[in-house]
Parts: sequence; C-alpha cells; structure tokens
Amino acid sequence: MPWTVPPIAAERLPALLAAMPKAELHLHIEGTLEPEMIFALAARNGITLPYPDIAALRRAYAFGKLQDFLDLYYQGAGVLRTEQDFHDLAHAYLRRAAAENVVRAEIFFDPQTHTARGVSMETVIRGLRRACADAERELGISSALILCFLRHLSEREAFETLEAALPWRDQFIGVGLDSSELGHPPEKFARVFARCRQLGLHVVAHAGEEGPPDYIRGALDVLQVERIDHGVQAVHDAALLQRLARERIPLTVCPLSNQKLQVFPDLAQHSLPRLLEAGVVATVNSDDPAYFGGYVNANFQQVFAATGLGAAQAWQLAANSFEASFAPPADRQRWLDQARACFEQYAA
Ligand code: HPA
Ligand code: ZN
Repeated sequence: MPWTVPPIAAERLPALLAAMPKAELHLHIEGTLEPEMIFALAARNGITLPYPDIAALRRAYAFGKLQDFLDLYYQGAGVLRTEQDFHDLAHAYLRRAAAENVVRAEIFFDPQTHTARGVSMETVIRGLRRACADAERELGISSALILCFLRHLSEREAFETLEAALPWRDQFIGVGLDSSELGHPPEKFARVFARCRQLGLHVVAHAGEEGPPDYIRGALDVLQVERIDHGVQAVHDAALLQRLARERIPLTVCPLSNQKLQVFPDLAQHSLPRLLEAGVVATVNSDDPAYFGGYVNANFQQVFAATGLGAAQAWQLAANSFEASFAPPADRQRWLDQARACFEQYAA
C-alpha cells in the first residue's frame, strides 16, 4: 500500500525536522572548523593567528559574496597540520551530525588547501578516515569522503592532486568541484572528470551557486555529474528545471550558506519551495556550518519557518536525501523505513 505523510501539528514541525533521520550530502569538513577549534589547534601547533580572540574572529564572519567567505575559510584551514588534527575535526563534526539524526554523511575535503602548505595527502586522508571509522563504531553513523578539486586552480594541478590521492583510491568514494565559481566553468575540468569516471569514482560538482544556469548544464553535459551542489540558480531556467526533475538529478541545497553569502539574503525568497514544486530531487544541507551559523537541523528549521514549508516537504526532503546518497541500496531503504516510523510517531 502506498504510504502517505500523516498530518502533523504545525507546532511539532521543528521537532520533527530535528528528529527525522536524514543524509547530509553537502558538507565541507574544513567548513566545520569552529572558531574555538581554530584557536585550540593554533595553540597545539604553535601558530599565531591574525585575530586576538575568538570573538574577533567571529566578527569577521560577515560575507558579501562567496569569495569573501573563501578567503577566511582557507585561512582558517591553515591550523590543520597533523593526522590527529584532521581526525579531531571530522570526529567533532560526526558527533554533532549523529546528534542531529544524520544517519549518513558524505563529506567533502579540499586536499589542495593542505598539500599547498606541505601537509601530505596521506596525513589528510588517514586522519579523516580514522574519524569516520571511529564514529561508525561509536555512534552508528555511516560516512564517506568526496575529494574536491579547487576550481580556481589549474587542470594540471587537479590531475596532480588526483594522482597523489590514487594510492588511497579505496578511501574516498568520489570527486567534487568547489571554490570560486564565477570565471571557472565546469568545462575547465572536463578531462579530469572523464578520468575520474573511468576510475569508477562518483562525480559531483558545485554549480549554479553564484554562477548561471549554463554552469549547471556544463556540469551535467561535460562533467556528467550525478548530483549538483547548490544548483539554486536553476529556477531561472524553466527548461533546465524540467530536465533536472525528469532526470532525477539531485541538488544539494544549503539555505543558510545561500543567505550568508547573499545568494538569497532573505531566506523567505529562497528557491527551495520552487525546486520542490517543480519535482526536483532537492536536499537540505549545511555546507560550512561553522561559518554560516547553523548545522543541518538549523538549515531545515530556518528555511521551513521562512518559506512556510510543511510536513509533506519535510518527508520529501528526507526521502530525497536517501535517494541522492551514494550509500548501498539496502542502507538507503532501512533509513527510509526509519524516517517513515519517525513521521508516524510525530503524527500520533
Ligand atoms: N562554494 C564553493 N566552494 C566552497 C564552498 C561553497 O559553498 N564551501 C567550501 N568551498
Ligand atoms: Zn559547498
């Protein structure tokens, strides 16, 4: 019998959004570096920061556009030096995610930010993977790594990064494309992504965050990605919107990121309701929660409050997150069943 979402009292919606099992598919591990941890790691590694204290650093988190954020994000990542640093960072995120009922996290990491500072690929991957294994054992949360290429760097540097990561090919499930979007269209990385697909890696790319709908088309046609990260500009192109829905290409949407980076300065104007209305497989994620003021449940609760979405959309977003995940089908089905039980409990 087909399952229909039970009616849920409006005042119970925020608690349901927090309680429902979900997959987080757009999360940069370097973007979970909280100011407190920046100061703690700086002290541990003997690094002097250009801010006198945590409050001063937090005050700098006011962004007019993506690049303003990226400048601080790369600077913050400079405190990560040892395998233990990467472990502690990812372990802190996974504990927090598990507490927010994230049952699956597909985590981006930016190796070029670290290798450029003399930190080895091995240090980064071993630290992150050990945290994933620890969290799975301790908390039952499933997780996987996705290596991102920095699009402001060259194709050659992306190839070198891929080469450096191949000894750990079994430690990450896919590749992505992030950093400064405008002026760096997907086509720049056509050959790198072709090679990654040949290697059997999953492929995703940031597109249509600040960039035009054509960058989303380029990511689909040229990079042949399986998911689009952000993609919120697709609403400006009706044919593209229809295509995303028809081909069931998931979008990993990050409402608080879009608000803080002035993509949608007013959350009430966010395109998430229009994407769902068009039948797009949209999901809700936190992107860089330490910088954008909220982890995944805050993203759900704030965008729902601002745009008036309800229980039916909550269900759709939870189900979409499992459909869009790269986890084994049996796991995805189990999480979907758990989500259904959660909704029934909230209806009672
Ligand atoms: N966009 C592009 N690059 C990024 C982001 C983002 O939202 N977060 C971390 N790197
Ligand atoms: Zn991102």
